[in-house]
Amino acid sequence: MTQPKKLYIKTYGCQMNVYDSERMAEALGASGYVPTDAPEDADMILLNTCHIREKAAEKVYSELGRLKGLKAGNPDLKIGVAGCVAQAEGEEILRRQPLVDLVVGPQSYHRLPELEARARSGAKALDTDFPEEDKFDRLGARPKAQRGPTAFLTVQEGCDKFCAFCVVPYTRGAEVSRPAARILDEARALVDRGVAEITLLGQNVNAYHGVGPDGADWGLARLIRELARIEGLERLRYTTSHPNDMEDDLIAAHGDCPELMPYLHLPVQSGSDRILKAMNRKHTAEEYLRLIDRIRAARPDILLSGDLIVGFPGETDADFEDTMSLVRTVGYGQCYSFKYSPRPGTPAAEHDQLPEDVKSERLARLQALLNAQQEAAQQAMVGRTVGVLFEKPGRMPGQLVGKSDHLQAVHVDAPAELVGRIAPVRIVKAAPNSLGGELA
Ligand code: 5AD
Ligand code: SF4
Repeated sequence: MTQPKKLYIKTYGCQMNVYDSERMAEALGASGYVPTDAPEDADMILLNTCHIREKAAEKVYSELGRLKGLKAGNPDLKIGVAGCVAQAEGEEILRRQPLVDLVVGPQSYHRLPELEARARSGAKALDTDFPEEDKFDRLGARPKAQRGPTAFLTVQEGCDKFCAFCVVPYTRGAEVSRPAARILDEARALVDRGVAEITLLGQNVNAYHGVGPDGADWGLARLIRELARIEGLERLRYTTSHPNDMEDDLIAAHGDCPELMPYLHLPVQSGSDRILKAMNRKHTAEEYLRLIDRIRAARPDILLSGDLIVGFPGETDADFEDTMSLVRTVGYGQCYSFKYSPRPGTPAAEHDQLPEDVKSERLARLQALLNAQQEAAQQAMVGRTVGVLFEKPGRMPGQLVGKSDHLQAVHVDAPAELVGRIAPVRIVKAAPNSLGGELA
């Protein structure tokens, strides 16, 4: 028997890349590849990249530089770049880094077996098309092996919003929703393999509008309600959303669908109406706050998360104070914040940029506030009993780690048989990034 070839994938960026990496590994399984955790053993190394901020994109080139040694020691090693840097920079990567054999964009990874064969023959392989055929159809069914209790499932890709700072509409293309029947099939297959919690993914997941098995248009709420009926599928989440796509029935689902977990990532980006307008977000700070009120009315204990950008071109001290004030009003349980990073080809990159020290100072102040809010949210859990889905052994013997309904990491002394199961846990202590609890 021929030895299987080994595949090492390094994943950068968002959860959709995590999902795509799994599916790329499955696609290359057909070419005789098995996954490895050791790059030095690999016959193929794939970097699944992120282009969202300059730092993320630059990481790829430094990582490629580090791989030079491995390639020198193993001339048969093939190196590939996938994901959004591949999409955005395509041929530029092959020019800038001759050790790269293969470049594949996020819409083309079903073609990896052909690309791999081309690379094996010694040619350079590049595919950054937005092909007519649906990559999900071409990928076929997922393998049957047992897997961990949580999984991602992509239901929607691409974005039509064109926020002035963002490369996603260019790297991932227009909004496309998968047919609901395919999603239901994939979810059932995941549950058969031991999955109890599914996070639905999309660049604009709440813009999901797919055709249902009945031929009708299904929004995300309908999809969630149908998924919730699958026996053994205990928890559902979705990420990431745009405020303008929070439809009434989705808000209602947060109140009346027990499988939909009380956690929502709803980026606002800025608290200043002037900056929101310049960002092309198409909503005001007040509209966002009213929306949060409605979501909280449906599900009072929901934990809110978001994304914020500081130092967008033209942001004044007063604009930044508006962001601080919005954050104080919302009270996030967890929130990501970034310095604005000009991305080639996006409208905001054309404008005068704020000095780096202004961006850094604002980010530090914002993060201090967000950290304090996160700590308060963690502390507020102490004394409460929450559901925890146990995922794996903890660092201490006899301990398991899982996630609360609110997506907080929880450490509990619990028997190993509880992995993959949900149990009520009384929270007894809180740290900034994790909780400690006892089986209730
Ligand atoms: N600069 C800084 N942050 C950005 N994001 C997207 N584009 C940029 C950029 N050019 C942030 C937004 C988005 C998150 C995924 O990344 O906050 O919601
Ligand atoms: Fe980017 Fe999100 Fe705006 Fe789409 S909605 S352009 S993905 S920030």
